[in-house]
Amino acid sequence: MRRIAHISDLHFGRTDPAAVEGLAAELNRDRPDLVIASGDFTMRAHIREYEEARAFLARLTAPVIAVPGNHDITPFRLWERFLHPFRRYRRYIAAETEPLFQDEEIAVLCLNTVRTWAPERDWSQGKITRAQIRRTEARLAALPPQLFRIVVGHHPFMPPPWDEEARLVGRADEALAAFQRHGVGLTLAGHLHRGYSRVVMPQPSGEPKAEIDVSEARASPQHLLAVQAGSATSTRLRGNEPNAYNRIRIEDGVATVQVRLWTGTDWCDAAESGSTRCATEE
Ligand SMILES: [Fe+2]
Ligand SMILES: [Fe+2]
Repeated sequence: MRRIAHISDLHFGRTDPAAVEGLAAELNRDRPDLVIASGDFTMRAHIREYEEARAFLARLTAPVIAVPGNHDITPFRLWERFLHPFRRYRRYIAAETEPLFQDEEIAVLCLNTVRTWAPERDWSQGKITRAQIRRTEARLAALPPQLFRIVVGHHPFMPPPWDEEARLVGRADEALAAFQRHGVGLTLAGHLHRGYSRVVMPQPSGEPKAEIDVSEARASPQHLLAVQAGSATSTRLRGNEPNAYNRIRIEDGVATVQVRLWTGTDWCDAAESGSTRCATEE
């Protein structure tokens, strides 16, 4: 059994200090086996924001694995953005932008979905390249077969159940099909600042397709569970969702997700998947 804390979109530079303190305290009390951070550590990739993010991560007792988000490369210094986009990320967060975590039970493979430029006005959207998919397939194929496989990216692989047209990471369908071919059981992402979980059923054509929105958010060994986290500490909240993170349990090849919500003073279990109310509320 493995216990994972999935945190995302911390956005140092625009955080709620109480939520930051509360998150550090909760994670160090809960002692997960691994903390997975799915990007957007900063607002504008400023050094002081990165320093705050690094100080936060240094306080955590659990090991941390992370990917960058679109906010983690500078929108101002274009030379840096094009020539060395991840220099600050590598200095303050992690040397690798696509690290791999592996123990006797799980493998966590990270994908950098951030684009330094795009042939459109909006450069915040993410993409997976064909080369990245090929590389990921090779990395997945090389893993011991018994490991529960998790893929992490910043941009969403599946849309929210209430907005099927939401923009996904580029080549999401191709990537999901490749993940399923290699037995990936769980994907983790952020970016939307909304938390939800969806089951992706394998299709005979090889094309992945969303089927059911499971209330208890479980994945069986045949299904892939696509999980999104809200923003753990940022004041940039969307859709009346409070700050939140995901507490994930991997046992017997099955992932179970419990969303944890910030009440302003403490964390509580969300009543159900997609709910913004605590389980203990009337
Ligand atoms: Fe974000
Ligand atoms: Fe983002």
